[in-house]
Amino acid sequence: MSYDLVVIGTGPGGYVCAIRAAQLGLKTAVVEKRPAHGGTCLNVGCIPSKALLHASEAFEEAKSHLKDLGISVGEPTLDLGKMMTFKQEGIDGNTKGVEFLLKKNKIDTFQGLGRIAAVGQVEVSGDDGSKQVLETRNIVIATGSDVTRLPGVEIDEKMVVSSEGALELPQVPKRLLVIGAGVIGLELGSVWRRLGSEVTVVEYLDRILPGMDGEVAKQFQRILGRQGFQFKLGTKVTTVERRNGVASVTIEPAAGGTSENLEADVVLVAIGRVPYTEGLGLEHVGVQKDNRGRIQTDEHFATNVTGIYAIGDVIDGPMLAHKAEDEGMAVAEILAGKAGHVNYDVIPSVVYTYPEVASVGKTEEELKEGGIAYNTGKFPFTANGRAKVNRTTEGFVKILADAKTDRVLGVHIVGPDAGNLIHETAIAMEFGASSEDIARTCHAHPTLNEAVREAALAVEKRAIHM
Ligand code: FAD
Ligand code: NAI
Repeated sequence: MSYDLVVIGTGPGGYVCAIRAAQLGLKTAVVEKRPAHGGTCLNVGCIPSKALLHASEAFEEAKSHLKDLGISVGEPTLDLGKMMTFKQEGIDGNTKGVEFLLKKNKIDTFQGLGRIAAVGQVEVSGDDGSKQVLETRNIVIATGSDVTRLPGVEIDEKMVVSSEGALELPQVPKRLLVIGAGVIGLELGSVWRRLGSEVTVVEYLDRILPGMDGEVAKQFQRILGRQGFQFKLGTKVTTVERRNGVASVTIEPAAGGTSENLEADVVLVAIGRVPYTEGLGLEHVGVQKDNRGRIQTDEHFATNVTGIYAIGDVIDGPMLAHKAEDEGMAVAEILAGKAGHVNYDVIPSVVYTYPEVASVGKTEEELKEGGIAYNTGKFPFTANGRAKVNRTTEGFVKILADAKTDRVLGVHIVGPDAGNLIHETAIAMEFGASSEDIARTCHAHPTLNEAVREAALAVEKRAIHM
């Protein structure tokens, strides 16, 4: 069989790349080792975590907040099995959707492990031991990432779990200890806290959510603290031992010092992810990786070997589904002779907790480090009519604009629906907007988006409701 393009891996990077390539007339095939398409994102990442975040938020609403709205539902009870079925149905709906789209676009699908046998050849090994070789003009590697392991801490997906195990716990742990105050730790920590766990987060650095704007992270930590999260920052886990059905976790200050023991029923290791290239045969064809195991590519996603490209989590950049998708579209367009491009300055990032945290562009720390002069406009949700009436007033919107040109350089939001709010600013930034452009745009009342406009007005110190 001979193709214009074979894509290895059908996560958000790979399947989107294949669809765009087929739209542009390339004869395309995909190879996927999982039984279902959609990669980490649909099977064990974005989609299942959002299903549990949604369901657990509804549980907490029913338990603690509905009565304030004059709604009595009695004490809600948890049927965790049903909640997991709800999650699985969400996964299945999405993975079947991808299967349908691949078929609709006449993309050939091969299930099995893909290995680059030679330039222009992908060998597919099926679970049943079968092997076939696909001839192709181009190969796109979209094999994603895997959990980072903590040396000396064995993940059994029962007592010591990765995000995969944390999405399938058979019961609510009384005490959940999370290693890593990044996105996974805080999202999945939120799920289990809402369902009843006492959650302690151990973080190596002296802050949560590294990479996010420092002021936002600080405020967010306070909010999570009020929800019941315990934080041990500037702390490292040295060992996790299993004793009589309990995890005994030894921690000590990151800089060294006296150690302490904590007990937990479940330990979640969430200290990042690493590119996944196992079994691909990269060494065999000479594809270069960097010192962090990422496949090295140029600005057109080409590796050092002609005809082999790579996108998504397996290359440099934020490990986000939408970044992988955009790279998938861009590389397909490049292969079809068009000008595919990704604007890495405007990739939004969202933490889907309550409240949400969302960010696009530069943080204050980055601007300071780059010596770029900027003005700041901030507006709290306590002064937004819709947030006030809904009693969702925690957090703020912060807009950072170039001091000389007023061009918006970064936007950071902690607050209700931040993940949706961020997009009006992402579009503005894509169009090179100034903060004045956002401030001059009429925003419907009463909406949370008015807080974004007020933050833009605040850049020139003329917010109305503050
Ligand atoms: P993947 O989605 O990892 O897909 C790679 C695919 O390649 C897999 O299906 C794998 O089976 C297959 N594969 C690997 N090697 C081979 C081979 N040799 N042959 C055949 N197939 C192979 N990102 C967001 O933007 N928003 C979120 O809300 C979000 N939530 C997340 C929650 C969790 C718990 C986790 C773990 C991640 C989350 N992410 C989220 C990150 C997101 O899942 C990844 O950034 C995204 O999936 C990367 O897409 P990808 O296509 O590069 O790789
Ligand atoms: P992360 O990189 O977001 O956070 C890992 C955290 O662990 C960091 O705070 C880091 O300082 C800390 N850490 C590292 N080593 C440690 C150690 N030994 N002890 C204690 N703390 C340690 O990684 P995370 O949360 O595992 O997520 C992986 C990837 O998945 C991220 O890159 C993220 O982009 C993606 N993801 C995205 C989501 C979203 O967009 N909403 C949701 C979940 C994951």
